[in-house]
Amino acid sequence: MTDTLARDAAPDLSISPAPAAEAGAPKRLFIKTYGCQMNVYDSERMADVLRPLGYAPTDTPDDADFVILNTCHIREKAAEKVYSELGKLRELKEEKARASGAAMTIAVAGCVAQAEGEEIMRRQPAVDLVVGPQAYHQLPELLTRTARARGERIGADFAAVDKFDALSADGAAARGVDGPTAFLTVQEGCDKFCTFCVVPYTRGAEWSRPVADILAEARALADKGVREVTLLGQNVNAYDGLDSAGNASTLARLAYALAEIPGIQRIRYTTSHPNDMSDDLIAAHGDLDALMPYLHLPVQSGSDRILRLMNRKHGRQKYFDLIDRIRAARPDMALSGDFIVGFPGETDRDFEDTLDLVRRVNYASAFSFIYSPRPGTPAATMAAQVPAEVAKARLHALQALLLEQQVAFNAAQAGRTFDVLFQKKGRHGRQAIGRSPYLQSVHVEDADHLIGRLVPVEIVSGQQNSLTGRLKIGAA
Ligand code: SAH
Ligand code: SF4
Ligand code: F3S
Repeated sequence: MTDTLARDAAPDLSISPAPAAEAGAPKRLFIKTYGCQMNVYDSERMADVLRPLGYAPTDTPDDADFVILNTCHIREKAAEKVYSELGKLRELKEEKARASGAAMTIAVAGCVAQAEGEEIMRRQPAVDLVVGPQAYHQLPELLTRTARARGERIGADFAAVDKFDALSADGAAARGVDGPTAFLTVQEGCDKFCTFCVVPYTRGAEWSRPVADILAEARALADKGVREVTLLGQNVNAYDGLDSAGNASTLARLAYALAEIPGIQRIRYTTSHPNDMSDDLIAAHGDLDALMPYLHLPVQSGSDRILRLMNRKHGRQKYFDLIDRIRAARPDMALSGDFIVGFPGETDRDFEDTLDLVRRVNYASAFSFIYSPRPGTPAATMAAQVPAEVAKARLHALQALLLEQQVAFNAAQAGRTFDVLFQKKGRHGRQAIGRSPYLQSVHVEDADHLIGRLVPVEIVSGQQNSLTGRLKIGAA
């Protein structure tokens, strides 16, 4: 299912020089992003590579010259959304052409582009370009080619390394930033092959960026006022990029190096696989104040039988032991997770095991999904697919429990004092909204002069989705 793009794209990739910025009216770029944080990062980089061509971002497709849908293939709904959005864009494109003769270029990027490039072209003739997740740095060149011929598909044959090399040339300095927090991709791809998951097919094999490139990007971000970086990877804790001596580094060592950069005050990373939570990373959580005490550590199911069918390569006890070790290193560590209900063959008993695991771990927040069969993955053809009503009922029960834990966790913050990184103005007066160490939104009155800074805040109360706090005397 992955090779359609590779076959078509390979031959003619001699890189013609990117067209120089054209004078005249700025062109408008609208990017709609679906899926995970890595797509958010990639969308920002697409905007960066198009900026020198005169493309300025707009927040509606209505006045856009170029529309990019950066897509997600993880569940059926996510993929189907793309086709309905494309239907609307086609109408807009035709209407614009009729009304003013203006042209609108439509590109589909990301994981649906990778998985079903040919089908997109077939189902929606209004699409001009299909760009796989490893090829967005080729957009400037592709755009000029599209002016001549529709139907370019570029994708899977590019190693992630090409993309990041293109980025690293002047990428770090060219990066746009938006406030004091930023994503930074350090690792891409997945070799784990969980039986339900498309990511190993859409993002390819695990690959880590070199340490020096990441540090350069982080320094550039810090210079632009970024105080918190979230390191991204499909298996971020499998990070093994090369250091300057040519040796494989680790995520822990990367975190220590990042913490040395003046201005970088907080480090997060996501998403981690339990099997890659190494001892040095756990120890780093005990040593490094900059490493936030909040960890997204998906387990997917609490049933050993289902974990085996999922090919997760660990059981529930190993997960519990791991969490004990993490909490021993960092007692205030809070956890989040991902869960799938209704995996083929999941019985009431298996689901009870999941509820039991959730009760034991006690999550600060978590995502849960009904299993969605994905074409080409082993689970899609497994026997005993779970009926939709059963899966729905399990999802409701699980989400009720997770919500209860989230509300309790937020309420338990009342009375505590911790640093909040202020990000933006609130809705009224001089209110500002920031982030706690646990990623909750914190609303504070009379704090809008502190945006961009990390400031101690006393938490007054915790609600379902946010906290209310007040400035400690002397903080301003
Ligand atoms: N690399 C991450 C997850 C990436 S996908 C990890 O290993 O955990 C994000 C989440 O989507 C997964 O954790 C899983 O809970 C969910 N997911 C993936 N494939 C799915 C499918 N076929 N149906 C339902 N949920 C799925
Ligand atoms: Fe998908 Fe599993 Fe890889 Fe995560 S570890 S991206 S769930 S295959
Ligand atoms: Fe979706 Fe691709 Fe991310 S499938 S979750 S956008 S890696």
